[in-house]
Amino acid sequence: MKEFMQQTFAIIKPDAVAKNQIGDILAVTEAAGFKIRALRLTQMTRKQAEGFYGVHRERPFFGELVEFMTEGPCVLMCLEREDAVAKWRETMGATNPANAAEGTIRKHFAESVGRNCVHGSDSAENAAIELAYFFAGSSLS
Ligand code: CMP
Repeated sequence: MKEFMQQTFAIIKPDAVAKNQIGDILAVTEAAGFKIRALRLTQMTRKQAEGFYGVHRERPFFGELVEFMTEGPCVLMCLEREDAVAKWRETMGATNPANAAEGTIRKHFAESVGRNCVHGSDSAENAAIELAYFFAGSSLS
């Protein structure tokens, strides 16, 4: 990876996959300047989802979140561009689609704060942790 590039971890969540929106979301992603460095369709196990969202374990919505993330397949991705973590969060829009800006993925595709169609790492540090969680052993350079 070139030194000015950054990688982030992204998920197209089960709501969007079920609605056949993978292609549309990938089109927005590529148009926003991201290179897709890794991509895998998978259905998370309960154990994987609980581990991934471990920081939210004490939140009232944790059970609902794990149910949702395991209800069907999702798309796991490594995205790369300059300033990828911040730019992907900008491209996704606010966590709650009701607060998401026009033109963002969540404004266009998300149903609610719980079923919000995409995930993105919130820091470079967490991007590295999350990429390692799902793409351990893959070459992402
Ligand atoms: P994500 O960015 O994947 O990481 C944490 C997730 O928790 C978040 O997206 C939302 O989908 C979910 N979440 C946050 N707040 C709520 C809430 N109030 N109710 C249900 N789910 C929530």
